[in-house]
Amino acid sequence: GAPVTVDISAIDAGQKVTFAWRSLPVFVVNRTTDQLAQLKGLEPRLLDPQSSNAEQQPKYATNETRSIKPEWLVVIGLCTHLGCVPDFVPDIKPEPFDANWKGGFYCPCHKSRYDLSGRVFSGVPAPKNLPVPPYHFVDDTHIQIG
Ligand code: FES
Repeated sequence: GAPVTVDISAIDAGQKVTFAWRSLPVFVVNRTTDQLAQLKGLEPRLLDPQSSNAEQQPKYATNETRSIKPEWLVVIGLCTHLGCVPDFVPDIKPEPFDANWKGGFYCPCHKSRYDLSGRVFSGVPAPKNLPVPPYHFVDDTHIQIG
């Protein structure tokens, strides 16, 4: 599949837009300062908090925000359990979520939870963090995926 260039200029702070790349859904999220702050302190609850599994992201996304620019998350929106598309749940905590979950992505198929960096929580069926595809910024408002 060819790379795709997407316009991110209309994605408001705190919002997610889904683009298609190689027939895969790619989530692009414009994270707010508050949402980025929530990532801190989650490490003990996460399966791979340091993104140690090198298959799940490029080297340039091996950091706490799993991204090139902190505010912009780019992940493939397929649950690493059996491939359902997780829901974007940035701030709310509907049941049966645990009280320490700050929001992120929730897979409705078997209740896996991910944070707003796509890092999977411990104790859910999904075995890995959401994959970060190869991408780069063409300019401030365009990302090339692939
Ligand atoms: Fe997401 Fe099973 S496919 S939890």
